[in-house]
Amino acid sequence: MKAMKLIKDNVIRTQVAIVGAGPAGMLLAHILRSHGIDSVVMERRTAEHVQSRIRAGVLEHDTSNLLREYGFGPKMDQIGKPKNGTMIVWESEEDHFIDVHKWTGKRMFAYGQTYLTKALYEAHMASGAPLLESVSDVTLNDIASERPYVTACHEGRSIRIDCDFIAGCDGARGICVQSIPSNYQRVFEKQYPFSWLGIMVERPPLEEFTYCFHNSGFALAAQRTPTLSRYYIQVPAGNRVEDWSDQRFWDVLLNRFPLRISRKIQTGPSIEKSIAPLRSIVREPLRYGRLFLAGDSAHIVPPTGAKGLNLAISDVHYLGTAFSDYFKRGSTSGIDRYSEIALRRIWAAQSLSTRLTMLLHRCPDEDPFESKLRQAYYTLLLSDETAQSALAHEYAGPPLVK
Ligand code: APR
Ligand code: PHB
Repeated sequence: MKAMKLIKDNVIRTQVAIVGAGPAGMLLAHILRSHGIDSVVMERRTAEHVQSRIRAGVLEHDTSNLLREYGFGPKMDQIGKPKNGTMIVWESEEDHFIDVHKWTGKRMFAYGQTYLTKALYEAHMASGAPLLESVSDVTLNDIASERPYVTACHEGRSIRIDCDFIAGCDGARGICVQSIPSNYQRVFEKQYPFSWLGIMVERPPLEEFTYCFHNSGFALAAQRTPTLSRYYIQVPAGNRVEDWSDQRFWDVLLNRFPLRISRKIQTGPSIEKSIAPLRSIVREPLRYGRLFLAGDSAHIVPPTGAKGLNLAISDVHYLGTAFSDYFKRGSTSGIDRYSEIALRRIWAAQSLSTRLTMLLHRCPDEDPFESKLRQAYYTLLLSDETAQSALAHEYAGPPLVK
C-alpha cells in the first residue's frame, strides 16, 4: 500500500479512485502518475486473471502513438508489428485490401491486449502505486457531492477511500454504471443475433489480418506473434464453447475462407477458446456528478474493427488530461467537456464497427434486400476509390482531439 495516504485505520485519501484494473483503469492510473496525480485502483479479480484474458489486438496509429508517448514504445516494439491495413476476402469476389497506409499515410499496429495489460501491470508495480486486488462489495457513495467516497472489502477488512473523483473503469456490468440513476443517463443499445467464437493456436498466422464473408457467415484470421494466431468464426447467439470441438471449428473456418486462403491456414490444437456476443452499447453522458465512465463501462462496440481497446485508450487519455487540468490549474473545462469529446470518437467507432459487421456477417433471418445492399456496398468498395479511401479513414480512426 505504498504511496497511499492512510488517514486512519482503513480510511485512505486519494485524488482519483479507479474502479477496475483492465486496460482503461490501469492506463488511467499510469497517465495520472505521469501528471503527478495519485490514484487508488480497485479490482475484484486477481492480477493473474486480468492478465490472462484474451481480447482483440489491433491498435490505431494514433492510439499506438499515444501509448508510445506514455512510455510503452519499447515493450510494444518487442511483440507488436505495424500493418498497412486489413484484407477482406469473399468467395466469389475479388479481394479488397483496406489500405490504411495508402489512403491515410498511417499504419495500424498489431499488438494483443494481453501484452498491453501485462506492460501496464509491470509499470504499475514498478512505480509502487497501490492496486487493491480481489476487492468485493465496492460501493460508490455521495457521487453527486464534492466529497465522494468508495467503500469496499479488501483482505477481509472494510475500507473507505475518500477522493475527489471516481473513474468507473469496471466494464459494462460493473458497479459504476449501476450507481448512475437510470433517469439520468440514456443507454443506446443494439444486439446482434450472433456471437464470435475465437481460438488461439500456436501456429504461424497468415501474412495479413483477413476478414472473410461467406454465405454461411463471417470468419477472421488474426495474429498475435510470428508463431501465435487467433481465428474467429460467426456462430449463432447462445452457442456455448462446449458445443465446439477444435475439429468442428476448423471445418467451419476452412470452409468459409476461399480455397486460395484456406490452404495457407495452419491449423492445430487450440490453447484458448471463448465466445463473445456481438452488441453495441453507448451511455450518455459519461459523467454523473464526480463519477466518470471510461472504457467498456462507457461503451461496447461489436469486435469487427477491433475498436474497443482503442476507445478505452482514447477515453482515459481525455479523462487523465482533464483531471490534470483540474488539479494543476483548477480548470474544470476538461472535465466538463470529457463526455462530449469522448463520445465523438465512440460514435465514430460504432459507425465503422456497425458498417463492417453488416458487410461481413450474415443474419440467420436476413432478407434478400439486405443481401443486395451488402453486395452493392462491396461492389462499390471494389470499384470506387472514394469509397476505398472513406473506409480506410474510418478504419484508421478519427484523429485524437488535442
Ligand atoms: N469492483 C472492482 N472491479 C470490477 C468490478 C467491481 N465491482 N466490476 C468489474 N470489475 C473489473 C473487472 O474484473 C475487469 O478487470 O473491471 C475490469 C474492467 O476491465 P475490462 O473489462 O478489460 O474493461 P476496460 O478496462 O474498459 O477495457 C476495455 O477490454 O473488453 C475489452 O474490447 C474491450 O478492448 C476493450 C477493453
Ligand atoms: C484480433 O486480433 O483479435 C482482432 C482483429 C481484428 C478485428 C477484431 C479482432 O476486427
